[in-house]
Amino acid sequence: MTVLGIETSCDDTAAGIYRDGLILSNVVGRQAAHAAEGGVIPELASRLHDELIGPTVEAALTRAGVTAGEIDAVAYTSGPGLPGALHVGMAYAKGFALALGVPAQGVNHLHAHLLSAFLTPPPPEFPYLALTVSGGHTELTLVRGFHDYEVIGKTLDDAAGEAFDKTARMLGFDYPGGPMLDACAEEGQAVFPFPRPAVKNWDFSFSGLKTAVLYFLQGQNREFIETRKADICASIRKTIVDFCVWRLTEAAQAYKVRHVAVVGGVSANRLLRRELSRKCEATGMVAHIPAFEYCTDNAAMVAFAGAKAIEFPGPRSAPTK
Ligand code: KG4
Ligand code: ZN
Repeated sequence: MTVLGIETSCDDTAAGIYRDGLILSNVVGRQAAHAAEGGVIPELASRLHDELIGPTVEAALTRAGVTAGEIDAVAYTSGPGLPGALHVGMAYAKGFALALGVPAQGVNHLHAHLLSAFLTPPPPEFPYLALTVSGGHTELTLVRGFHDYEVIGKTLDDAAGEAFDKTARMLGFDYPGGPMLDACAEEGQAVFPFPRPAVKNWDFSFSGLKTAVLYFLQGQNREFIETRKADICASIRKTIVDFCVWRLTEAAQAYKVRHVAVVGGVSANRLLRRELSRKCEATGMVAHIPAFEYCTDNAAMVAFAGAKAIEFPGPRSAPTK
């Protein structure tokens, strides 16, 4: 089965082709215009998706060496996401599928992220516990099968990516600052002790860290902040990463699950990847960390999730808020 995936939930226009266990192409058209605005502007995102979707799908077909006539199904992100942005992808996918006479399959964006763990070998074994860390979500989900997802914990306030982006902004990085803060942190030492989130159960919270960083920076002069930027970045990064790794591995032990995964944009974070691998090696757990191109929003994961939804039709799992 050959599936074209389309992803337009936020500010990345993406298309990818999946065929029988292999990703043949994964093309992402990033909408750079949002950086100048300091965040994603929904109306601008919809307009840019509209411009980029055609060429992006064309590029995905060309790179895969697949013709439109070989497509057996079109999978698209149906939500959650920006309504106008989602609409552009859905309308394009449905039109494309109708013209080819093939089915159009809606895919939950968060489920696609959860299944992105399958795109980098070896695949996880069910049940696995996945930590989704992106710009909009931080959730701990027990994945028991392709239709069986149970959210056991989530953030009570900011998402992990939001914590990276907002603190990065305080340090003068452009939006989204997460990757730049990560790169800067590689040059520093985590010497400033920011408070670890204090939340019960398997939940997350990052607004306290945001406030702590704000007060810390307000108490320093500009020269100190510039000269110690790498150490400040390393300290922020360590606070977020330590909490995420601890929560994920503690929950896995409590649920007696050996396979764990980290998915979503923040799973591109270098320290998170290193620390989760180290912790899993030490405790006999198996860590599944997608290759970089499958961490941030992409359509390969949408094509894969669409193919599995068609291959294993089942009751719809409860939509995640
Ligand atoms: O999954 P994603 O592409 O889009 C959403 O669905 O939100 O995630 C984007 C988020 C942004 O907040 C971005 O700053 C963060 O992922 N991110 C990172 C890194 N790469 C991307 N955060 C920390 N370190 C990184 N290396
Ligand atoms: Zn996402």
